[in-house]
Amino acid sequence: MRDEPLGRLLISAGPTYEPIDAVRFLGNRSSGRLGVALAESASRAGWDVTLLLGPTNIEPADTGVEVLRFRSTADLEGLLRERFPVCDMLVMAAAVADYRPVIPEEARANPEGYKLKRSKDGLKLEFEATPDLLAGCSAMRRPGQRIVGFALEPAERLMESARAKLQRKGVDAIVANPLDTMDSASIDATLITRDGQAISTGGPIPKTEFAPWLLERLEVVCAMPEPA
Ligand code: CTP
Repeated sequence: MRDEPLGRLLISAGPTYEPIDAVRFLGNRSSGRLGVALAESASRAGWDVTLLLGPTNIEPADTGVEVLRFRSTADLEGLLRERFPVCDMLVMAAAVADYRPVIPEEARANPEGYKLKRSKDGLKLEFEATPDLLAGCSAMRRPGQRIVGFALEPAERLMESARAKLQRKGVDAIVANPLDTMDSASIDATLITRDGQAISTGGPIPKTEFAPWLLERLEVVCAMPEPA
């Protein structure tokens, strides 16, 4: 065993569930598997790992990983506010909702007691944009901190969209994945860095091999000079 950890790695993973009322939510199909696998590999490699994990039924097998659970984007935002300032690197693998239902003003004081009634007229929901958590972290980063995001995009404009996202969110690197990764057992990803490197898996690799692949490439991100 090494005495000193490699550094403090904060990973977010899994879906967000945005409440519609006390019993209903709007979610997405993210399993969180990739982030959990990355947390396990990183912990084994000697990182001090905290995993912010959304509503999914998988958990890291490695008990060395500190796991903090969230449900909504607002929960995750609160956890990041606490934990981002004390990490050396953030890997934001969570599938954060872009929109959330607006809870009516009169229900906000007691959300647990708010349940929509059935109506033959149907239902219209209003949505508001969620904050961009990655951009928020990037805006409050201190020197030495590194931030890696993910981008799931249609294959035909993958690299172009991922590069634009890297710039827009002010992160150090972004893992670009084609949209069909979601239902596949393999992954064909490219790690694009702020200083112009594009490191590819070199074709599809099994998802189980992806976490160690990415972990090794994170060294490139750590070694990059500070952003201007
Ligand atoms: N992300 C975030 N906060 C959000 C939405 C996304 O921090 N409200 C993060 C994700 O965790 C991911 C990265 O931003 O690391 C890219 O997410 P993605 O959904 O691909 O991008 P969006 O910002 O939602 O942009 P678009 O919908 O235009 O693709």
